[in-house]
Amino acid sequence: MKNFLITGGAGFIGANFVHHLLSHHPDYHVVVFDKMTYAGNLNNLADVSDDPRYTFLRGDICDAPAVEQAIRQHHIDTIVNFAAETHVDRSIEDPNAFIHTDVIGTHVLLEAARKFGLERYHQISTDEVYGHIPHGTSSVETDSVAPRSPYSASKASGDLLVLSYWVTYKLPVTITRGANNIGPYQYPEKVVPLFVTNALEGKPLPVYGDGRQMRDYQWVGDHCQGIDVALHQGQLGEVYNVGTGQEVENLRMVEILLDEVGAPPSLIQHVEDRPGHDRRYSLNVDKLKALGWQPEHDCEAAIRRTVRWYIENEWWWRPIKNGEFRDYYQRMYGNRKVIAVP
Ligand code: NAD
Ligand code: DAU
Repeated sequence: MKNFLITGGAGFIGANFVHHLLSHHPDYHVVVFDKMTYAGNLNNLADVSDDPRYTFLRGDICDAPAVEQAIRQHHIDTIVNFAAETHVDRSIEDPNAFIHTDVIGTHVLLEAARKFGLERYHQISTDEVYGHIPHGTSSVETDSVAPRSPYSASKASGDLLVLSYWVTYKLPVTITRGANNIGPYQYPEKVVPLFVTNALEGKPLPVYGDGRQMRDYQWVGDHCQGIDVALHQGQLGEVYNVGTGQEVENLRMVEILLDEVGAPPSLIQHVEDRPGHDRRYSLNVDKLKALGWQPEHDCEAAIRRTVRWYIENEWWWRPIKNGEFRDYYQRMYGNRKVIAVP
């Protein structure tokens, strides 16, 4: 592994992973291949833009000739696929782009990896593929997938395709399934950056339903380190869960967030729930820990560190919130019913 194609590398986790690779592996070369949807942002990569080991290509993973050209031209031996449509609420509004990128795009990349005989294809997946997890249990990698939103169904389809290429063609694949990532450069449609920036602007925090849903909020850097370990020490054909291994209720996440911002709980506004909202995700991460990986942040530490980054980096989020995001926010929240929660 030396020449990486990082698809979706201008998005949140992809950009963090590019920083991780360049700082931890001095001999690696990184080509970011990104369509630059609303979620792609070159500001996420500004501080590596002069690094001679880094190249940016604008391209769509559904476009086979463009993918093949990138592989050929840059002698790619490894693909790490972060490219995806990623927001559950947008998938409920319109699943179309999710099926294209997360399913067909994954297939295009797999075919290219097969055609060029790449050393590794790594798929970035999500705990959402396991579906809602009842209290008292956690997902292990051998569990069946049971996705419940168009987003998670498209990601589960991608995972199944990846695994089928291992079984059928012995394409050297690995998959990581991450919990809710938080940290620098996350588009403020996702709950933590949305709520920090709303709190800083004195706007309400729209908590879906009763706010008792549970998520494992993990520091994005811990996830990147987990991907690195799975890439270098994982077994081919295997899936690895990546998270803190604990989860918190959304209302607890909001409490920590408001405390770190120094804003009042009166900003909390319960609103109509997300349709089909999964109540709980919970990952068992023992398999990756057995390879020597250990997360450095629990959920609370991850939330507090994330809040501080948004407080210190208004230059990054302010232009986003003043741009396309305004129409999105109006569509998603403008007419959403405020509800009373007992
Ligand atoms: P993001 O929405 O911030 O970024 C996605 C990136 O992919 C953007 O730069 C976008 O321009 C690019 N992209 C979209 N369609 C593309 C296409 N057709 N071709 C090329 N590029 C395209 O996403 P993220 O939150 O960084 O998530 C990255 C990956 O991690 C996704 O696969 C997601 O499913 C997975 N994941 C995310 C989380 C999370 O909490 N955010 C958790 C687990 C797994
Ligand atoms: O679990 C991993 C997944 O985490 C990733 O695969 C997805 O790409 C990523 O978007 C994220 O999905 P979630 O749906 O869990 O994240 P989101 O930030 O949208 O919501 C987190 C929780 O907060 C969820 O229970 C819904 C709730 N929420 C979200 C928003 C946007 C609110 O209460 N209010 C909101 O305005």
